[in-house]
Amino acid sequence: MKEFLNVAVDIAREAGAILREGFERPKTITYKGEVDLVTESDRRSEELVVSRLKKLFPDHGIVAEEGSGAAARTKYCWHVDPLDGTTNFAHGYPCFAVSIGLVEDGKPIVGVVFNPVADELFTAVRGEGAFLNKKRVRVSPVEKLANSLVATGFPTHLRKKSSNMEYYWQFTLRTHGVRRDGSASLDLCSVACGRFDAYWEFGLSSWDTAAGVLLVEEAGGTVSDLTGQPYRLGGPSLISSNGRIHAELQEVAASIAARVAKDG
Ligand code: 2AM
Ligand code: CA
Repeated sequence: MKEFLNVAVDIAREAGAILREGFERPKTITYKGEVDLVTESDRRSEELVVSRLKKLFPDHGIVAEEGSGAAARTKYCWHVDPLDGTTNFAHGYPCFAVSIGLVEDGKPIVGVVFNPVADELFTAVRGEGAFLNKKRVRVSPVEKLANSLVATGFPTHLRKKSSNMEYYWQFTLRTHGVRRDGSASLDLCSVACGRFDAYWEFGLSSWDTAAGVLLVEEAGGTVSDLTGQPYRLGGPSLISSNGRIHAELQEVAASIAARVAKDG
């Protein structure tokens, strides 16, 4: 597994350098949807990551956000977001990352998330802990939702029909605050290293979360869907937390879900 991790780290650093360079320059933005941006840097980063992985691991599947992967029914599959936080990147807000997760039979086993602006490299191998720049990290010790700082996000494709604003509002009333930083992989890493006590979101894809959920679990945290069932990569909802406030989070989420269902 060390070999997979080392390769993923090298590739994430190389892709990060591409993003860092693109961040300093004027951006060419195109649109995948009404507000779903994609930049030249998304494509260049993906090209690099996918070509390296294909060459090194021709038998592995690859699922990459911009579509250049080689999906296959294989034991091992890499889930790649070449630029997580594209909207931030395009607007010059320095919060974005490369996310690379290796999944074995549906379970993440290696996770690497690299923020090239902060030079923060988050890594995890299943069963071996979570690390930030090679130092072991753990989730926060916070015991109560009322004392927590939490985060969420609003994927662009759901912005008109998402009920997440209701969750945002209710959790704002019950916590020290809800942050919305725009990069799911970094949000998960922030839970892993104790900056956030929890993070939830709807409608994420496997490339957004494959690496980050392993980071949270290996840092001693808990990941589930909104109802407390095991989180499935690409599933409709995700809650991650330090574990200590997970039951409380779920209870509040259930009461909001019931209200949303009733009020339509
Ligand atoms: P992105 O920057 O790679 O698009 C924002 O809350 C989070 O949602 C970001 O991690 C963002 O990743 C992700 N996101 C945005 N649009 C998405 C889409 N159409 N499908 C899945 N995830 C998306
Ligand atoms: Ca992306």
